[in-house]
Amino acid sequence: MNLNGKTAIVTGASRGIGAAVAERLASLGANVAVIYAGSAERAAAVCARCRELGSAAARAYQCDVADFDAVKRTVDAVRADFGGVDLLVNNAGVNRDGLLPTMREADFDAVVAVNLKGTFNFLRHCSRLFLRAGGGRIVNISSVAGVTGNAGQANYAASKAGIIGLTKSLAREVASRNVTVNAVAPGFIDTDMTRAMSEKAREAALSRIASKRLGRPEDVANAVAFLASDAAGYITGQVIGVDGGISL
Ligand code: NAI
Repeated sequence: MNLNGKTAIVTGASRGIGAAVAERLASLGANVAVIYAGSAERAAAVCARCRELGSAAARAYQCDVADFDAVKRTVDAVRADFGGVDLLVNNAGVNRDGLLPTMREADFDAVVAVNLKGTFNFLRHCSRLFLRAGGGRIVNISSVAGVTGNAGQANYAASKAGIIGLTKSLAREVASRNVTVNAVAPGFIDTDMTRAMSEKAREAALSRIASKRLGRPEDVANAVAFLASDAAGYITGQVIGVDGGISL
């Protein structure tokens, strides 16, 4: 499996799963555009690691994925800098957990704006490029919560279920043009997002995982890399669980 000569956009790539995905794609030879929200230093460190791992070129771009026009400017900049875009990984995401009967409207809107609209924004601007170029690979990071629902995460689960709807619909629209669109649905992965959970919630999650361990960002990155590769050319519109069996 190699991605030599391909250029990948990875959103939310300055830490966690996004950083692991950027580094895995880099290790397969891809050029990587590291899209980040706030931390230029962390994004620069991920770019440096990508170059060490084998990326011919890695560059950081600050962009709020929820901003349609900013996403267009960013995609245009990546295309100008690298000469094209071949792979898109929509990974940026947030959670604002709480029970629905008392959920603040702002917490619903914020999660949908980043997770669902942000994914749409990159799909919208990149899919046109892929169609024009005659091919491309898209991987959207959903969640097991988007498949099964999760108490206390109605906003998050709705946004992640929406990503599955985007994935399957776009997959149908572009499959005949050599563009694949798949989703990965991680379970509980050891990152800042799950470290923010209470000890009790983490233990409850762990007890439901058949593999009896939290996932690592690299576990998700490996699935993304496969779906981004030529080896996965006949797989589209799928939701691949990377969850240690929590959804069984
Ligand atoms: P994280 O919180 O470490 O990383 C999220 C990344 O998204 C950060 O780099 C953050 O800066 C970026 N981001 C947030 N809002 C943004 C915006 N408006 N514009 C640009 N970037 C923005 O969390 P983690 O765990 O690495 O999550 C990555 C993805 O995986 C998310 O979509 C998350 O929902 C999903 N996921 C994570 C799971 C887990 O157990 N950690 C389980 C299932 C899905």
